Amino acid sequence: MAIILNNEVGTITLQTKHSTYQMKIGRFNNLLHSYYGAKIPEEDLSYLLFDGECHFAPYPYEFENRHGSLDILTQEFPTAGSGDLRSIGLDIENPDGTDVVDLRFVDAKIYSGKYSLESLPTFYAKKGEQVETIEIILRDDISFVEAHLYYAVFEEKDIITRAIQVKNLGNDEIFVKRIQSLVLDFNSGDFDLIHFQGRWAMERQLERLPITHSITSFGSNYGVSGNRQNPGFLIADKQTTESTGDCYGFNLVYSGNWKATAEKSALGLTRITLGLGDENFRWKIKAGESFEAPEGIMTFSSQGFSQLSHNFHDIIRENLCQSKFSQMSRPVIINNWEATYFDFTGEKLVEIARSAREIGADLLVMDDGWFGDRFDDNRALGDWQVNEEKLGMTLNELSIRVNKEGLKFGIWFEPEMVNEDSKLYHQHPDWVLNFPKRKPLLGRNQLNLDLSKEKVRNYLFEVITNVLDSASISYLKWDMNRPISDWYTNNLPAKQQGELQHRYILGLYNLLERLTKRYPDILFEGCASGGARFDLGMLVYQPQIWTSDNTDAINRLKIQYGTSFFYPISSMGTHVSVTPNHQNGRLTPLSTRANIAMAGTYGYELDSSKLCDFKKEEALLMTNKYKEYQNLIFSGKYYRLTSPFDIKINLTIWQIVSKNQEECLLTAVATDSEGNPPFNYIKLKGLNSEFLYKVENQVLSGIVLMNVGIKLKQSRADYSSEQIYIRKVKG
Ligand code: DGJ
Repeated sequence: MAIILNNEVGTITLQTKHSTYQMKIGRFNNLLHSYYGAKIPEEDLSYLLFDGECHFAPYPYEFENRHGSLDILTQEFPTAGSGDLRSIGLDIENPDGTDVVDLRFVDAKIYSGKYSLESLPTFYAKKGEQVETIEIILRDDISFVEAHLYYAVFEEKDIITRAIQVKNLGNDEIFVKRIQSLVLDFNSGDFDLIHFQGRWAMERQLERLPITHSITSFGSNYGVSGNRQNPGFLIADKQTTESTGDCYGFNLVYSGNWKATAEKSALGLTRITLGLGDENFRWKIKAGESFEAPEGIMTFSSQGFSQLSHNFHDIIRENLCQSKFSQMSRPVIINNWEATYFDFTGEKLVEIARSAREIGADLLVMDDGWFGDRFDDNRALGDWQVNEEKLGMTLNELSIRVNKEGLKFGIWFEPEMVNEDSKLYHQHPDWVLNFPKRKPLLGRNQLNLDLSKEKVRNYLFEVITNVLDSASISYLKWDMNRPISDWYTNNLPAKQQGELQHRYILGLYNLLERLTKRYPDILFEGCASGGARFDLGMLVYQPQIWTSDNTDAINRLKIQYGTSFFYPISSMGTHVSVTPNHQNGRLTPLSTRANIAMAGTYGYELDSSKLCDFKKEEALLMTNKYKEYQNLIFSGKYYRLTSPFDIKINLTIWQIVSKNQEECLLTAVATDSEGNPPFNYIKLKGLNSEFLYKVENQVLSGIVLMNVGIKLKQSRADYSSEQIYIRKVKG
């Protein structure tokens, strides 16, 4: 049993294979948190709860003698007005204008299987998979508010997911002003926070900082999960490394505004929170109705970051995406964006397809510029009618011509946007987000469509299906190129404008749900100016996301390294582009670009017809190598052996090991070159010490490879790289 409710002592214990999570129903029915960490047998751990005098902190009336203010207790779901002065999980505005909700334990039900949410996507249990859920009901009998806390335990995967539903049991409307899906309190510990900050073209850059006696708050107000911060973050002991030490990882199944906090209290308690962004957020719950917060997910590892990543990779690969493609090998894509930008015709694309076949590509994607008057990025977004004059043929003809060259055909859309200079905007200026009486903020000369409106979604559904039904289309790239601003909709009354940012995301999910259900055979890939919406919400509908617009191999090392902490290799769109690179002008060897692109869903972002025969041969070799290893790359365990952020090391090395430990792919990239370079030795990870492995022309045991290591080539050229395939020969 993964969930144990002990009514006698009032504990609720969640057990995964390697972790234990315990809650305690306090003396006055407050739901307290006792422990989350390494697995321990079923025992009452509530002795860990602070029970000293709380001095001047406010404490509930019934807590006699100043003992146990909620401000010094570790809690499951702290609320506004309860005396807990730290970052809280729930803030409700009552009909009388007060911001208070005092939730006490009422009941708990355990059932087998995974809960789901009505309004939002969540992780799911696979057929036959052992997953248990506990629904804990807390209530405030004065505010008439009930909170249902759901916890699902994926025991074998060491994962706990959480979700919250708030019900209004009263007769008047109430407003949710803040709701955090995850709140986690620690009685002790001195942690570092590891989060992934960035910007366009340099997404998910790792930053490690101490959690101090102040609130560190980060998140996104972009309307999308964002490239400045990612909702996936971790906390770790100071000494934790890739393979040793305790760490905890958190993430959110959500693609819109979010917020996280990490703080240490005066008495040394650490609290982290993660949930919906609370800036401009205010959600009305009518009498008798409820509100659901997005699902949060967490895991614990006592063996460092690699194990933590493996836990996330496994559950994301197996229990999140609705598309059949998440479990399949993916086509090698060639995308014409960096090859032609807006300057292409149908014939040009056929020419690219023809040469792309020679380098092993499986699918050609026609990127931005195929519709309306779209000759640059200032016009025509919204006018999703094929520009046959520009293409010189119909879309169907083009797709068939590409198919005849031996490639499947894919297409780009940016459905959430419109340019002022477009037919759609002229017909429906009221379909955009725009503050009344003001000029809208522009981003890349475009405006955001109001996806909270059903008629806008219906229009998009219709125009997209018209295009998809008109040709032989196997892939759709869903782009989104500006942060959302001007949060106003004439669809909601003034007092409910605070619902819009969440309603937008609900609208987006609704549209994606309809389209992906209707086209199960089309592979969807996400994109938001590269990786500005790389999150678990989008991965529900799209098994892969374009990781970054930056295709420079060496910059990609850092971007892909940061992304790999949470997201599996099979979810990262990674393409080989030309050199000098279009984003930073760097020159790198084709083999290095390819080796780095192999840590993802491999493809090309170049005009293959311009490659000389020699380069074509080299590219074909790399594509074939990728195809040979794709299964290993997608399903294996990923180990970061060195960090591109470590300035003392000029080699970035990673390794992918098959689950049965019989195969392994090691990649090492030189990020700098020196005269008279030393040899580099690297100890491998995750192999079976008993097995014998073939490493190039040597046979070495797993125990030697992991404890003594192998010698890498001396790096003599700028940005050279090495890829070594290792396989079991005996054991
Ligand atoms: C931004 C994307 O990230 C690029 O790959 C490309 O699709 C452009 N948009 C097209 O406008």
